[in-house]
Amino acid sequence: MTCKIGILVSGRGTNMEAIVDHIAAEKADVQVLFVASDNASAAGLRLARQRGIPTAVLPYKDGRAAGEAAVEKLWQERGIDLLVLAGFMRLLTGEFVGRHEGRILNIHPALLPKFPGAHGIEDFWKSGEPVSGVTVHLVDDKMDHGPILAQREVARESEDTIETFEAKIHAVEHQLYWQALKDYIKRIS
Ligand code: GAR
Repeated sequence: MTCKIGILVSGRGTNMEAIVDHIAAEKADVQVLFVASDNASAAGLRLARQRGIPTAVLPYKDGRAAGEAAVEKLWQERGIDLLVLAGFMRLLTGEFVGRHEGRILNIHPALLPKFPGAHGIEDFWKSGEPVSGVTVHLVDDKMDHGPILAQREVARESEDTIETFEAKIHAVEHQLYWQALKDYIKRIS
């Protein structure tokens, strides 16, 4: 059966784009019913529109309750099975997450529980640690927290700058999110 997903983005939307491209390349039985954002000028919304995917702007400017109510409405009206957070920089409430337990995924550019938050790559870079990576996990009500579905390491090489390291992290993200999402869909269907 077709798995229906919604994707939330706040910015560039390259993880959303990678998922959409993997679905098309593999002719996977997964349908992206909407891409929504708390940020009306998110590049990710433009990318989604170019691909003919319905988009929505979430009214987070009127507060978290209003923004989240709009996500809930989309969820119910479009009848999605999973919500995929792809660079969505808002914390969902425990109430929302509790209603959709095991149905919300997130990606983070570090090896959680290390370096959670909005600056995972920068925080790792400044730490001097040798290895970071990417995590895909189920979402609970804490930031960048919940059962881990997949992790992949990315090592800091001596010739790396933060820019080259960041590019390596994103390249891994663009493969790992789809892999983990696909595996998870298999697990729950
Ligand atoms: C990604 O690196 C994602 O892991 C990160 O935001 C970026 C979004 O990029 N998410 C977090 O830091 C969550 N705490 P994108 O808009 O190009 O997909």
